[in-house]
Amino acid sequence: MKFLGIESSCDETAASVVEDGRKVLSDVIASQVPEHVIYGGVVPEIASRRHVENISAVVKSALEQAGCGMDDIEAIGVTYAPGLIGALLVGVNFAKGLAYSCGKKLIPVHHLRSHIAANYITHPELKPPFTALCVSGGNTMIIDVKDYTVFNILGRTRDDAAGECLDKAARAMGLNYPGGKNLDAAAKGGNFYAYDFPRPRVENSPLDFSFSGLKTNVVNIIHNKQQKGEEPDIKNLGASYIKAVVDCLTRNTFEAMSITGSKKLVVAGGVSANSVLRSELDLMCSKKGIELFMPDLSLCGDNGAMVGAQTYYEYLSGNFAGADLNAYATMNIDNLIK
Ligand code: KG4
Repeated sequence: MKFLGIESSCDETAASVVEDGRKVLSDVIASQVPEHVIYGGVVPEIASRRHVENISAVVKSALEQAGCGMDDIEAIGVTYAPGLIGALLVGVNFAKGLAYSCGKKLIPVHHLRSHIAANYITHPELKPPFTALCVSGGNTMIIDVKDYTVFNILGRTRDDAAGECLDKAARAMGLNYPGGKNLDAAAKGGNFYAYDFPRPRVENSPLDFSFSGLKTNVVNIIHNKQQKGEEPDIKNLGASYIKAVVDCLTRNTFEAMSITGSKKLVVAGGVSANSVLRSELDLMCSKKGIELFMPDLSLCGDNGAMVGAQTYYEYLSGNFAGADLNAYATMNIDNLIK
């Protein structure tokens, strides 16, 4: 069965046709990154307007590239939470209109569920149960994935997401948006221990994260240097900072896995593209005898294919929505509202 997946939660308008949750027949993305670069980050109002302008053409070319018409599509899946509310509403309303006019079922897809599903495309053999580390611009969580649509949150950030923490540091260092990606490149080959950053813990909640202090710490170092007329040493400062963020992520993830006894780790979300996170996890998982699954680099960021993949599993679970489907800026992965 073929499913159309539509994504508009942030600054990418994307659509894809995916067969049975695993086979990508088309994957079209209209990225707005060049337009947001001049503002140093995503401007929500601009994002919503561009989604409105792009969505019809993106969906049309996803269908064309897959060689299908709407008659070949079993159901339409759309990202409805969490994300920028104005941006989400564009995808949700487009999907509702298309579903109604073509007489197709409408499937609400949680953004983090689809980030996890990006791994079903890269690793066709992957099946739940497993532990997932979800790291994106707005979320950081360790999740016990019991089944394709059954999730239990083991740990989460109490303040900033890891991606936000990397983006803000990059911005303070004068790097362009998207900060996390540019900081990763600028810090390549730097000394992980040139700067002594803490590895914060949340008291009495060992699986939760706290990144805001770390973010303030790096911003203060940069401002102190600038006040003395010095430029920050981006390579070493960036490498030490990324290593501190990655150490927090890996420490809590392996603690969670030692509690649950899980031997399968899936990484998901934009920060899963980070080169230090990928190589540290590779090394640590092989030492610990844990099977590691990471999305292909092309599927780490927001895309329609991951939505199309998760749509299949939501369909099998009977998770349908009506014409009253709304979009939500925040929503737990394990407790959906429709
Ligand atoms: O999952 P995503 O594309 O969007 C959200 O759903 O939030 O994640 C975006 C985040 C941003 O914070 C971005 O800086 C980060 O992913 N990111 C990276 C890298 N590429 C993207 N962070 C670290 N290293 C990268 N290579």
